[in-house]
Amino acid sequence: MNEARRKLIENVRKAASQAADEHGFLQTVVELVDGFSDGYNWTGFYMMCDDHLEVGPYIGPETEHTKIALNSGICGAAATRKATVTVDDVRRDPRFLACSITTRSEIVVPLMDGDTVLGEIDIDSDRPAFFTSEDREMLEAVAEIVVERILQFRRADRTIRQNPGR
Ligand code: SME
Repeated sequence: MNEARRKLIENVRKAASQAADEHGFLQTVVELVDGFSDGYNWTGFYMMCDDHLEVGPYIGPETEHTKIALNSGICGAAATRKATVTVDDVRRDPRFLACSITTRSEIVVPLMDGDTVLGEIDIDSDRPAFFTSEDREMLEAVAEIVVERILQFRRADRTIRQNPGR
């Protein structure tokens, strides 16, 4: 992995150590990841809510796909497969749910807590076949840091709820 990619991972790690809450942390991660490349044209999180995905913080054109069922879209496919899905040409993929007509390629990296999907990082590019195995490696490393920090926030929230007033 090149220096710029290692630096991005380092910056996400730093953001994790400074974050005060889950939503703010996800917002910061979106800013860091989106800023990594001019070719990232929509960068955001989808988070699992009950049996579907709901859009979280994102940077890019407004999307009508604020809720996505697990049997729908590239996002649903990645959550169902519990593995990263990269699509080099979205126009040739019948699963694709368009958020912008200019999108040509997409990568979706699930946030895995063991076997449980907590959400996903979703990135669209206006350039065909934009996402390389190095992007994937970098984003999977980012996803791991995000999962670890989310779990800490959620554990802390549960402790506060179980011990109100402490
Ligand atoms: N393209 C995604 C939908 C989300 S928008 O790109 C933001 C999909 O096919 O699941």
